[in-house]
Amino acid sequence: METTLVLIKPGGVQRNLIGEITRRIEARNLKVVGLKLLNAPRATVEAHYAEHKERPFFNSVVDYLTSGPIVAIAVQGDNAVKAIRAMMGATNPLEATPGTVRGDLALSIEDNLTHSSSDPEAAAAELALWFPEGTI
Ligand code: CDP
Ligand code: MG
Repeated sequence: METTLVLIKPGGVQRNLIGEITRRIEARNLKVVGLKLLNAPRATVEAHYAEHKERPFFNSVVDYLTSGPIVAIAVQGDNAVKAIRAMMGATNPLEATPGTVRGDLALSIEDNLTHSSSDPEAAAAELALWFPEGTI
């Protein structure tokens, strides 16, 4: 059993996609074990994207993630990390397969609606960052 992190980015919240994205997660028979709406502190987002600190898009993605409310979801299930990554689709929505969240609902890489942990080690670190109080 694995637990992974999903963030619904500000564009997803603004477009009223909290329910649609959460519905897809639950429909896959994955369990929501943590869920909150928050205005993310800049320091938390910078830590979250620390691996991208030297990339040209770092400041813009941090600006974006702090531009409005986001939803953080802890998701548990067998192979949850891989299952969720596949459901969210490729980083660039233009390359994301139809049937994925990004392939169905997004058009631009700057507003690709969700984050999901890339591997179990990243998931553990990201869950500790976003759910320091723990999950259910
Ligand atoms: O989110 P994912 O793990 O699929 O992609 P990433 O390579 O870890 O990049 C993190 C986020 O930075 C992406 O989801 C995009 O929001 C943003 N990004 C961007 O704006 N422009 C790029 N060329 C690459 C990533
Ligand atoms: Mg990533």
